[in-house]
Amino acid sequence: MEELHIFSPATVANVSCGFDAMAFALEELGDEMVFTKNDSGNVTISEITGADLPLEASKNAAGVVALAMLKDANADFGVDMRIHKNYKPGSGLGSSAASSAGAAFAVNHFLGNKYSKLDLVNFAMLGEEAACGSQIADNVAAALYGGFVLIRSYEPLDIVAISTPQELCVAVIHPQIEVKTEEARNVLPKNLDLHIAISQWANVGGLISGLHSGDYDLISRSLIDRVAEPYRKQFIPGFDELRNAAMTENALGTGISGSGPSVFALTKGMETAKSVAGAMESFYSSTGIDFKVYVSGIGKNGVRIID
Ligand code: HSE
Repeated sequence: MEELHIFSPATVANVSCGFDAMAFALEELGDEMVFTKNDSGNVTISEITGADLPLEASKNAAGVVALAMLKDANADFGVDMRIHKNYKPGSGLGSSAASSAGAAFAVNHFLGNKYSKLDLVNFAMLGEEAACGSQIADNVAAALYGGFVLIRSYEPLDIVAISTPQELCVAVIHPQIEVKTEEARNVLPKNLDLHIAISQWANVGGLISGLHSGDYDLISRSLIDRVAEPYRKQFIPGFDELRNAAMTENALGTGISGSGPSVFALTKGMETAKSVAGAMESFYSSTGIDFKVYVSGIGKNGVRIID
């Protein structure tokens, strides 16, 4: 039986000002998944380690994606998957997206790469809907494309790869508490004040321009979120203190990773990322809440075959 072993990266969505419209991949953190093609035509999940998630394919984000693709392609085969999650769901690091993107990539491989990357994002968004009730593209696009992506449009889907300066790095702290994306979306306002909208899209422009030109000061000035963060930071104990700790160590800026509770800080250079991670770690050790810290460059590669 044909078998495929893949890695699908964790992702940081929103990146402060780009709610639902920007994300980037991490280098090393992510899901490992093993897919086996079968003749039965069924989609099965024989194992999930590292998280308590449904094994029933129609209730699992990756399963939903595989079912939709095999049906769309009229495939005469099925797949079994084994999913190894290296970080917990509800992290704000695109856990369901990593599984959904991984399933889209692997099933496409078995289908002879019938679908484009953009098609795969559309399928993977079905997994996001299964996991959190909304078809969000940011995390799945970053996981499938790698690097930094902009979702310029949802209808039709238009994804733009954004170049990032060589030395751009990130420190991430993941408090080991779960924030459900659905709940973190429900607290957001349905309408925006025009002044807030203006400052938000101006910062998106500033961030994209800063990333393209390698202007770290402009990146720093643009990492402001007036749309989601004011409503979501209540879910993250010590959010303001984490920001202060990171900024004291020369972070370019900080924000909530996706819908939280993870908090990211962008930095110029890995040494600064490590100092920022150390400062966040040192503060969080005083809270009594368990946590994990990661440092990474921007993950240039998306989902990939690992052996
Ligand atoms: N952009 C989404 C949100 C990411 O912030 O709700 C959720 O994973």
